[in-house]
Amino acid sequence: MNSAPEDLARRFPPDFLWGAATAAYQIEGGWAADGKGPSIWDIFCRRPGVIANGDRGDVACDHYRRWREDIELMAGLGLSAYRFSISWPRVLPAGVGAVNRTGLAFYDRLVDQLLSLGIRPLVTLYHWDLPQALQERGGWASPEAAGWFADYAAVVGACLGDRVEDWATMNEPFVVAFAGHAEGVHAPGLHDWGLALRASHHLLAAHAAAASALRASARRARVGIVLNLSPCSPASERDEDKAAARRVDGHLNRWFLDPLFGRGYPQDMLALYAALWPEAPSTLAAAQSPLDYLGVNYYSRRVTRAHSDGPLRATSARMRGSEHTAMGWEVWPDGLRELLLRLHEEYRPPLLMVTENGAAFDDQPGPDGRVEDGRRTRYLAAHLDAVADAMAAGAPVAAYFVWSLMDNFEWAHGFSKRFGLAYVDYDSQARSLKASGHWYRRLIGAHAAAKGQP
Ligand code: FCB
Repeated sequence: MNSAPEDLARRFPPDFLWGAATAAYQIEGGWAADGKGPSIWDIFCRRPGVIANGDRGDVACDHYRRWREDIELMAGLGLSAYRFSISWPRVLPAGVGAVNRTGLAFYDRLVDQLLSLGIRPLVTLYHWDLPQALQERGGWASPEAAGWFADYAAVVGACLGDRVEDWATMNEPFVVAFAGHAEGVHAPGLHDWGLALRASHHLLAAHAAAASALRASARRARVGIVLNLSPCSPASERDEDKAAARRVDGHLNRWFLDPLFGRGYPQDMLALYAALWPEAPSTLAAAQSPLDYLGVNYYSRRVTRAHSDGPLRATSARMRGSEHTAMGWEVWPDGLRELLLRLHEEYRPPLLMVTENGAAFDDQPGPDGRVEDGRRTRYLAAHLDAVADAMAAGAPVAAYFVWSLMDNFEWAHGFSKRFGLAYVDYDSQARSLKASGHWYRRLIGAHAAAKGQP
């Protein structure tokens, strides 16, 4: 692998979009500012013991006040696109009903400023911060959730739809459903597999309802969804490990992909979940609204071993000899090539975007303040090489977003895990580009310079 930006840049077509991604709760702060209602994360973080160091996102990166500076950071990087999410309770404090105009105006200004600097916004409507008021009415476990979400999508679409073209209804419904409702490690912190399966069903219905609402209010909308996907390999050649890997693939990948591409839920998984979700529908008309693109978040592959416990009877295996990030995730760039090609070959989305890819490492500023994060640069370069390989083999990838623009609140890990291209000093709120950020800037610059050259 060659991480020289000039060589890598040449592998991407002229209209390829270079982005970075963030999410509202992870960066905004301003948790009770200007009429914002509480979200499930505001409440969850106040539960003792659930977040590392007792951290919470009340202030986070203070982006709600420092957004101009953050857009300057993006412009300095040369980004052509920026993926961010909207805080639902900032716009609709009770989740439904009265609109908080001040909250909505924040995103209105953000979009105008991005566009004035030539940065294309990709707006995610839901990145995990459900209004607490809706959680109290059942949250995603309620069949009413699709209607609430569609109404919210219509409000945002009516405000930003004249300028924003790229929309994602939601981020990682898998994580919302299972980390939030089965494993209890994310808000709302529940431990009920049956509820998690119902929530996943309502999330898919909500995606479809919001996609229609967006298309009705935003004329030029390109509407997609963002999924966290991973190739799943067995830890050994044993048949039981192969079967376990197939179940994990069904759980993580096919449970969402199949319905979104009009195939209904996978039969093997319906059979596996039958006792947990006896009233599962055999067809799923609501999720069959065609996607304009599929957003792919990729961090690592899943290596699986058969196990006696849990509905999946599977456990993750740690690969000895591989490099791992500070999250404990194996560095496996070829999984991204494999995944993009599988999606192209098996599901044929009209377009693919890599909506998140990146790595946490224990970054330490040196005496001169610089963060020499060569491992992150190598991670990004290797994954971009894998994207280019997939494109060369036919996968229609239009964009790549680094997770993340800057260090931020990493959910249950609090501020202990740093994914940013920019280092954030949480005491002073100063941002400074890490070496990987400088490398990404050179890559984008080299790509721009190569445009127009034969
Ligand atoms: C993804 C989330 C994102 C971030 C990264 C590390 O699952 O979408 O918010 O936390 O993981």
